[in-house]
Amino acid sequence: MPPSSRSILATTALPYANGPLHLGHLLEAIQADIWVRYMRLRGHAVVFVCADDAHGTPIMLKAAQEGIPPEQLIAGVQADHLSDFVRFGIRFDHYHSTHSPENHTLVLQFYEALKTGQHLAIRNIQQMYDPEACLFLPDRYIRGTCPRCGALDQYGDNCEVCGASYSPSELVSPHSILSGKTPEMRETEHVFVRLEGFHDRLRQFVHQGTLDRGVARKLDEWMGGELRDWDITRDSPYFGFPIPDRPGQFFYVWLDAPIGYLASFSAWAHAHPGTVFTDWLKADSPTELYHFLGKDIIYFHGLFWPALLAAAGFRLPSGLFVHGFLTVGGQKMSKSRGTFLTARDFAEIHPPEALRYYLATKLGAGIEDLDLDLPALLRRFNSDLVGKLVNLAARSTPFLATDSGSRLSGSLPDPDLYDRFWQEQKPIGLAYEARDFSRALRTIMDLADQANQYFTACAPWGARQNDPERARGIATETLNLFRLLSGYLKPVVPELVARTEAWLGVDTERWEDLAHPLLDRPLPPYTQLLTRSAEPVPGVTIHPGSTDLPPPPPETLAMNESPAPIDITFFNQMELRVARILTAEKVEGSEKLLRLRISLGHEERTVFAGIQAAYAPESLVGRLTVVVANLAPRKMRFGVSEAMVLAASDGASGPFLLSPDSGATPGMIVR
Ligand code: MSP
Ligand code: ZN
Repeated sequence: MPPSSRSILATTALPYANGPLHLGHLLEAIQADIWVRYMRLRGHAVVFVCADDAHGTPIMLKAAQEGIPPEQLIAGVQADHLSDFVRFGIRFDHYHSTHSPENHTLVLQFYEALKTGQHLAIRNIQQMYDPEACLFLPDRYIRGTCPRCGALDQYGDNCEVCGASYSPSELVSPHSILSGKTPEMRETEHVFVRLEGFHDRLRQFVHQGTLDRGVARKLDEWMGGELRDWDITRDSPYFGFPIPDRPGQFFYVWLDAPIGYLASFSAWAHAHPGTVFTDWLKADSPTELYHFLGKDIIYFHGLFWPALLAAAGFRLPSGLFVHGFLTVGGQKMSKSRGTFLTARDFAEIHPPEALRYYLATKLGAGIEDLDLDLPALLRRFNSDLVGKLVNLAARSTPFLATDSGSRLSGSLPDPDLYDRFWQEQKPIGLAYEARDFSRALRTIMDLADQANQYFTACAPWGARQNDPERARGIATETLNLFRLLSGYLKPVVPELVARTEAWLGVDTERWEDLAHPLLDRPLPPYTQLLTRSAEPVPGVTIHPGSTDLPPPPPETLAMNESPAPIDITFFNQMELRVARILTAEKVEGSEKLLRLRISLGHEERTVFAGIQAAYAPESLVGRLTVVVANLAPRKMRFGVSEAMVLAASDGASGPFLLSPDSGATPGMIVR
């Protein structure tokens, strides 16, 4: 380990075990995973843990509804959560459950510490009770008329219409959402944590200088007044840990949930004997602890959790990394609006790394909400990663050919260029560490543009015949810039970069590995590293379960037929571009198809065209034509076709390829 190596424990908030992961959960997990991967690339020792939050009334009721024990429900959900995380490249070192022996032990330890430190108060409260369902009702399970504005059917704790907050007893004509019955007030004796006793310690925590300013301000606001005692008791029936000296009562789920972070870590530490769990917890531990969480649970992590840690004599978090909410079309994800996307829905249609990449382009360190626009997400992925990044490899590799296979040159024609790209590692690294991923990616993509410009300006195709070594040098330089930029992107799109590195025969374990170019070595043939992803047409919903293949083309038109008129906006959805045919060859096993490699200026594509009968392949090389560039890639028996070549025909003769007038160059838009 390098001397500056830090020891870090990082967590994401524990998802509730009563439903599938959705894109909001993934936002948090992806943000944390990118940060963790980056810190590891810099040589820091990071343990990254999470768990399912398995306790509470909703989980108990859901299990009852499904007619299974809660243990069975949470086991199934946990397995689903874990497989979703894996699918999105989220690499936790350990994924635990709050319903575990480790957590039980720790919870009892915290409870003892709270008692010994005299941080607990016991007193009677009045709480709504559903006489038919036979349970005390959480505020969310009571609805009624807002006492302030009179809006009907509002939650027991706040009104969505006027924003008032109140206690359920103030609701007008309250009813239980479980039975519809009017709840009764019942008295019950509960245990509270006296937070006021931690005021100074909490103030110090909030002002330690590591919290985001917005977050610190919020916490400060809450601490302005007297901190209310925190009720940590729930009455039977409940799914949770029983309170040892209070029969029929359980610890509130929010008491054992954050302790679950430590339970997960302790399970990991148990399997890694080099790590002494208690060393990490000591108040003066040199290790660091960071929690990633959403802005809705700041109170729990900024006040309750540090108070619990302080009561137990443990260290406090080094920082809270709070993010905003993921919205769709500017609004909260919602099932009724059809904008609620589960992790699985997404992964069945789109590449998971497209989500990682897109979120990273939008994520900063602040707590602003972040809007998901699916067509924009796919455009981003296609244009940045396929069109700019991978394009560097695809267009340079053909120029590396020698008599005995592809080989990188022994030196770079422009070492200063590579060095200038490497110098950008500093700002990029700082942005990653500060969780300003959007800034890091802007810089990286700007470099990708520059690398493409370098290649185009050097025009190796001109040198190929007369000076193949020069062409090989340009390609070697370009491929090295590609490899460097891929390395910079490794935290964001680890799978793409793993494929890339497997092809190049390298493994970037440390950021510094990128400082030196790859030279004088053979290179296996280029295989497609990434294909364009189908971009949905606005207004057309792609349903989960469908493949990413476009629908079959409608019957082609007969000569004398005319389809219904279209709007200009419909036409504008088509991306028609001038393309140069670079290579053309017959497709073995097909009588109709030619495989074309075309250039669209800044990128190359492979296209299959049914023109074998009309054109000899060699007659096509070098000519210009017109293609539909945004047609969803089509998987054909012989490979993927990434565009469509336009040709005229009347059914009897043709097809005749289109040609632009002279002056047109590859990539030009046809409109
Ligand atoms: N179980 C608690 C956390 C306990 S941590 C000791 C919980 N679970 S949750 O499933 O509701 O949310 C888990 C995390 O996902 C939280 O950090 C929450 O803010 C985040 N998100 C849930 N919906 C979200 C969005 N729509 N957007 C971004 N993050 C969101 O809270
Ligand atoms: Zn109201």
